[in-house]
Amino acid sequence: MLQANDIAWTYNGKTWLFQHKTVAIERGEVVGIYGFSGSGKTSFGKILARHMKPSEGTVTLDGVPLPMSGRSPVQLIFQHPEQAINPRWKMRRVLLESGPIDRDIFEAFGLQDHWLDRYPHELSGGELQRFAIVRAFHPEVSYIVADEMTTMLDSVTQQAIWRAFFRIARMRQMGMLIISHDFALLECLCDRVLDFETMKPL
Ligand SMILES: Nc1ncnc2c1ncn2[C@@H]1O[C@H](COP(=O)(O)OP(=O)(O)O)[C@@H](O)[C@H]1O
Ligand SMILES: [Mg+2]
Repeated sequence: MLQANDIAWTYNGKTWLFQHKTVAIERGEVVGIYGFSGSGKTSFGKILARHMKPSEGTVTLDGVPLPMSGRSPVQLIFQHPEQAINPRWKMRRVLLESGPIDRDIFEAFGLQDHWLDRYPHELSGGELQRFAIVRAFHPEVSYIVADEMTTMLDSVTQQAIWRAFFRIARMRQMGMLIISHDFALLECLCDRVLDFETMKPL
């Protein structure tokens, strides 16, 4: 189980962006977090995926604090893949950085072999996002935090991505936290949806 216990965060050391955020996600569970823009959802996602150490509180996986080094078992997928991928690397290197390429996952997301020899700017936003997702599914990953993962994409691409995403995540019994400002999307994808403000079910 992935647990965030009484998490607080401040960027400036003076004012809290948020405090007292607690959530527990089981493996195989899909939890949504809904909230308005600027409320701190992305910052919370970064804390869960170990990109930042919380100002207060702890993040534990199966009762043990998340290690701050090595490949994280909790992977974050951002809204803007171009910000998460090294623009100077070809896609083959981007993928190989997270370990050997899993052929099933590669194909589930409709990636094409000749794209591996391209740079990030030579792919569309949807293609690049699919690479970012495939990279996140490394063998040791057990939780995915999807932060506005398909917000920038057209609805056909959104559907294709979510379908492949759920197929792989369910097969591997992964836990998922889906962050979005789109309540209809969360309602359709998640087992339960929490209001980021109160962390209570909506
Ligand atoms: N690196 C940063 N330094 C200072 N303030 C930041 C930083 N990143 C985000 N913020 C601020 O924190 C607030 C919450 O941002 P964010 O976590 O992205 O919220 P959300 O994802 O809910 O829109 C915003 O007001 C944003 O401007
Ligand atoms: Mg955000």
